[in-house]
Amino acid sequence: MPDITELIEQLQAARERVRAGGGEKRVAKQHEAGKLTARERLNLLFDEGSFIELDMFVKHRCTAFGMEDVEAPGEGVITGYGSIDGRLVYAFAQDFTVIGGSLGEMHAAKICKVMDLAMKAGAPLVGLNDSGGARIQEGVDALNGYGNIFFRNTMASGVIPQISVIMGPSAGGAVYSPALTDFVFMVEGTSQMFITGPQVIKAVTGEEVSPEQLGGARTHATKSGVAHFKAENEEECLATVRRLLSFLPSNNMEDPPRVKCEDPIDRMEERLRDIVPTDPNKPYDVRDVIRLVVDAGDFLEVHAGWAQNLVVGFCRISGMPVGVVANQPRTLAGCLDINASDKASRFVRFCDAFNIPLLTLVDTPGYLPGTDQEYGGIIRHGAKLLYAFSEATVPKITVILRKAYGGAYLAMCSRSLGADQVLAWPQAEVAVMGPEGAANIIFRDEIARADDPAALRREKIAAYREQFANPYVAASRGYVDVIVDPAETRPQLVAAFAAMSSKREARAARKHGNLPV
Ligand code: HXC
Repeated sequence: MPDITELIEQLQAARERVRAGGGEKRVAKQHEAGKLTARERLNLLFDEGSFIELDMFVKHRCTAFGMEDVEAPGEGVITGYGSIDGRLVYAFAQDFTVIGGSLGEMHAAKICKVMDLAMKAGAPLVGLNDSGGARIQEGVDALNGYGNIFFRNTMASGVIPQISVIMGPSAGGAVYSPALTDFVFMVEGTSQMFITGPQVIKAVTGEEVSPEQLGGARTHATKSGVAHFKAENEEECLATVRRLLSFLPSNNMEDPPRVKCEDPIDRMEERLRDIVPTDPNKPYDVRDVIRLVVDAGDFLEVHAGWAQNLVVGFCRISGMPVGVVANQPRTLAGCLDINASDKASRFVRFCDAFNIPLLTLVDTPGYLPGTDQEYGGIIRHGAKLLYAFSEATVPKITVILRKAYGGAYLAMCSRSLGADQVLAWPQAEVAVMGPEGAANIIFRDEIARADDPAALRREKIAAYREQFANPYVAASRGYVDVIVDPAETRPQLVAAFAAMSSKREARAARKHGNLPV
């Protein structure tokens, strides 16, 4: 019988074999490609020394195509749990040095186990993806493994935060697990996502495109909107994952984590009086407004490179995490369009699912006109935003900074969609449409008949502006609750969110609504 010392030595040797992954050569290749190993990534993600690995001795059962002789340490994926800023998080990290991180039956089973544990514990799940996709030798068992993951992604949606970090290839149907999660991170130069790769595209359509152009971080962070965050390197990427988690509750039954607020809650901010020009046609960067009203200027922007005519992200107000949705007048004058509607509605639904109050900053002339938008289904996409804000029961505070016209006024969390408090700045213009458009329509005949049509048009525009392009008409009906000096916005928001912190709002029981996707 071996004694305990011998048994422990055997255990340590077995652990070392697994920890070596695909071996020195493949690890060196991974580093040469500018990528860290799965273990190095987990060390950066978790609080030092806190990660506990599960299932390190799981083995595949495949015997096809010579697989019976193939050893796959850890089955090509490291799974377990640990703490991030002291809070429990489950994770998996695919190990590209082991059969290219490919996903077979048991690899998938390991991932499913941590997904189940994360659900039971009510803790976030972070997946570090670096994989050649379905393990080709395992055929339908690999496909079934993906299916099991997709099912769990869906069941966990809205229950625990799910974050996908793409740190290598993610191709074919494998992209759908990340797509089902709440946030996708990509790294510039080393991560790629696509359904069909460049070779298939060339064969089918004749189109030539490089993998990076087709599905690199820049593409997904700016063109497709698949990636919510793009990082320069893996270290920055994992640091941002940690930062994102600091705003999120561990599950849908908890409030988001409140921190001590060092920034005075009664801080008056005179710079806000000058940032938003009273001239409705002058652009500015709405992020300057956001940074001045939130705690310590700390704002984590989500989807920063995509649909830039609208800004979404996380901040804190009086120490409480808040989700911000803001029109961005610097891009497309802050018009709402298909992508902005998708971006905002997904963000609003995430915040609502995880009890994160919403702050909406409005300055939009309306929906972007054009056949591209109409043929692309702006009606369908725009409806999502109405749906998302109406459905949300978290505290909803809206500030109308300047223009709030027509359907876009309604869509940006207006009183009628259930805003709990609507503030407006004195330069706010709340009306069915802008003065130019309105005067041209209402007084069209009169202007056409006038001796000096241009002069009469100017007069009518001025009269319309005088009468309607202000916040007082909306305030007289109670659609705007408070008209504030921009400088006092922060104290007003602190008070408004505090007043709504105990908000309760019930909805009729139903299986689920039918979001206009
Ligand atoms: C089995 C795989 C594999 C896979 C890579 N490997 N992908 N083994 N199944 N899917 C192995 C390689 O054979 C190699 O083994 C090792 O992993 C490293 O791969 P390399 O090719 O040397 O690396 P690199 O040059 O960096 O290229 C990476 C790659 C390429 C672009 C990902 O490996 C590749 O194209 N792989 C196949 C991708 C693919 O078609 N996957 C199936 C997609 S279908 P050795 O022993 O030589 O080191 C799919 C369906 C999912 O995923 C559906 C879900 C619903």
